[in-house]
Amino acid sequence: MLTLETAATAAYVVAALLFVLSLAGLSRHETSRAGISFGIVGMAIALVATIALAINHQIEPLGLGLLFGAMAIGAAIGLWRARVVEMTGMPELIALLHSFVGLAAVLVGWNGYLHIEAHPDGPDAIAMSEQGMLGIHSAEVFIGVFIGAVTFTGSIVANLKLSARMKSAPLMLPGKNILNLGSLVAFAALTVWFVIDPSLWLLVAVTVLALLLGWHLVASIGGGDMPVVVSMLNSYSGWAAAAAGFLLGNNLLIVTGALVGSSGAYLSYIMCKAMNRSFISVIAGGFGIEAGPADDKDYGEHREITAESAAELLSSASSVIITPGYGMAVAQAQYGVADLTRKLRERGVDVRFGIHPVAGRLPGHMNVLLAEAKVPYDIVLEMDEINDDFDATSVVLVIGANDTVNPAASEDPSSPIAGMPVLTVWNAQNVIVFKRSMASGYAGVQNPLFFRENTQMLFGDAKDRVDAINAAL
Ligand code: TAP
Repeated sequence: MLTLETAATAAYVVAALLFVLSLAGLSRHETSRAGISFGIVGMAIALVATIALAINHQIEPLGLGLLFGAMAIGAAIGLWRARVVEMTGMPELIALLHSFVGLAAVLVGWNGYLHIEAHPDGPDAIAMSEQGMLGIHSAEVFIGVFIGAVTFTGSIVANLKLSARMKSAPLMLPGKNILNLGSLVAFAALTVWFVIDPSLWLLVAVTVLALLLGWHLVASIGGGDMPVVVSMLNSYSGWAAAAAGFLLGNNLLIVTGALVGSSGAYLSYIMCKAMNRSFISVIAGGFGIEAGPADDKDYGEHREITAESAAELLSSASSVIITPGYGMAVAQAQYGVADLTRKLRERGVDVRFGIHPVAGRLPGHMNVLLAEAKVPYDIVLEMDEINDDFDATSVVLVIGANDTVNPAASEDPSSPIAGMPVLTVWNAQNVIVFKRSMASGYAGVQNPLFFRENTQMLFGDAKDRVDAINAAL
């Protein structure tokens, strides 16, 4: 006979499959819209099934009122934030959302303790103990609270760093690796203790320990590695959700958490490879990275160019490569850039784009902006596809990019971004850099490109400057 329980289980299986299809769809941009739709439908099915189960378990009217009230408030805030967020503010919003998953896991863990372990003579605790499940429950509570709390404060620090409300340079506490390792050892010891003899103070201790560890782990990571950190926190939030799923006995939460956890971990790994970073070093909070010497090097003088001279240089060029970065997004210069591209191509200039994997503030940031401005896909190339072509290029336009075109990454082993692959724009005959000042980029590192002989700076807002070149052309 079909009961509500079996119907809900079937709905959970369908939702889980839709989540897998969603991830598969999101991996290619031609299928990404379908991927998003699968995810939305899956989540709607999961919500309906979960609410139906809750009603069936006859929770009191007050409980139902709280459930629907919380959902309405959450949905209203979520819709409002998603509508008003700028594309450039996406990563910090995502980081903040991860913190909620972490906090939820902490609350679920505490709730589990207050219901079971806090009443060792209660019927639930006695029943669990008879089935030999009490120790497993205690371990789930403890591990869930730990992962959740690390995710919670780690995500808050990521949010503060990404929104520039906290310095992006890595925090360098003396003996930071010992602090991290010591915290893990203490966590393992406390877990064993809690499983043998659950008590409130142990739970308080692990919560405080994990909150501090999450804060320290992410604070110790420098700005250049933040993309990896955000995807790693995504992974942690998945594991936190899976831990909550075990406690709540909810299979869908376990499956979904594991999907998010493993895909986030894999994305972090791919990003580390693309940026030539050690995966272990980044997940261990910058393990093995020491503070570099202060940068008081004299880089020499820079040269400036006007929009009119830039237009002349471009008119006489045979090939142009545009390397956009975060500044193009801030200035919303992509429409002007698309216009400029069209004008130059009409004059027979070969124009292409070189996209660094971490240009901007989220994966695919530049591709989305250029697609929005209707720049043809076939002239937008990845870093690896275009990096050998700069030698034969007349002019490179660096539009609001900085770290992603920094020669120090490949030439100065003491640079904080040493080893990160960059667009080798300096090999071109002429480089024009669009930015407002000589300020450094996201990683806070000076860029020797600005002082090279073949580089000229075009100061001002990128949109203004591109429009001025378009007018001059
Ligand atoms: P950045 O190194 O961030 O540099 C952007 C440059 O744009 C700045 O130097 C800034 O100089 C300029 N700028 C800002 N507003 C501008 C405006 N209105 N007009 C003209 N210029 C403007 O850019 P990037 O090369 O794209 O590198 C991305 C960095 O962000 C990397 O370090 C990366 O690791 C990090 N990051 C990436 C991601 C992902 S997944 N893509 C996520 C988080 C962090 P002025 O202030 O002088 O104008």
